[in-house]
Amino acid sequence: MYLSYFNFVKHPFNLTADPYFLFPSPQHQEAMGFLYYGIRQRKGFLAITGEVGTGKTTLCRSLLSRLDESVKTAFILNSNLTEYQLLHAIIEDFGIAANTRNRMNLMRALNSFLLNQVREGNNAVLIIDEAQNLSSSQLEQVRMLSNLETAEDKLLQIVLVGQPQLRKKLDSKGLLQLRQRISIRFHLYPLSSEEVGAYITHRLIVASSNGSPPTFDRRAVELIYDYSNGVPRIINMVCDKALLAAFALDTQTITGRIVRASIRELEGEPELTACSRCS
Ligand SMILES: Nc1ncnc2c1ncn2[C@@H]1O[C@H](COP(=O)(O)OP(=O)(O)OP(=O)(O)O)[C@@H](O)[C@H]1O
Ligand SMILES: [Mg+2]
Repeated sequence: MYLSYFNFVKHPFNLTADPYFLFPSPQHQEAMGFLYYGIRQRKGFLAITGEVGTGKTTLCRSLLSRLDESVKTAFILNSNLTEYQLLHAIIEDFGIAANTRNRMNLMRALNSFLLNQVREGNNAVLIIDEAQNLSSSQLEQVRMLSNLETAEDKLLQIVLVGQPQLRKKLDSKGLLQLRQRISIRFHLYPLSSEEVGAYITHRLIVASSNGSPPTFDRRAVELIYDYSNGVPRIINMVCDKALLAAFALDTQTITGRIVRASIRELEGEPELTACSRCS
């Protein structure tokens, strides 16, 4: 509704994990650096954990969009799969043609695909998002995939991505074998108070068609930080509401007052701003 009013080409605060909007905070950059390094160096197992809504999926999508042709990728988003379905989904996402329902044959097809990639000088990466939902037996199956190797190299680099429960799972006694194989672990935290303003400005500029988007004043940013604790998904929710309210009030400056009303609205409390433009 407010897109043309503010000269946006895209919604600046969509809740999708769109890599186009990636804000390269120091920790997001560091996580990306670890992923690149781990994949290039064929480190086998990597794990990215992080608080809910802190940008794990966005980071993965951004990684996928940056890897070149020589890196074959499979991205599994749905971890609510049986062990067979998980293996099948991996094979399908790599684009391997395997006309079999037999698990051993699926493993063989995967192994021969991976060996071919090594021969051609390629690398292969499996990213499993929402990995906190994987059961111990699924995780064990994923560990078995990391056994696929030549004498020198891991054939498959595996990135497990998940919420803090994944960190707990990986630290549990039962998964010691898996934990010992993870060469790189990184945990994403919410943004700091200083980063929140820069995050908001970044998304506004990326979405803007003319490079001069509306502004959030200092008090507005402070209130957004207090409410969201620096979690990007919550920041997006507040900012989207605040932009709608600013549009209704016909202003290019989002003030503390507007943000306070937007938060109240998000909390299900009655709207206080009169909306002359929405009627
Ligand atoms: N570094 C970032 N740059 C730009 N946008 C971000 C960043 N981090 C998070 N976001 C935005 O916040 C929202 C939530 O991000 P995302 O879905 O990637 O989080 P998540 O950690 O995968 O969440 P969950 O724990 O629910 O899986 C998305 O709209 C995303 O675009
Ligand atoms: Mg996610």
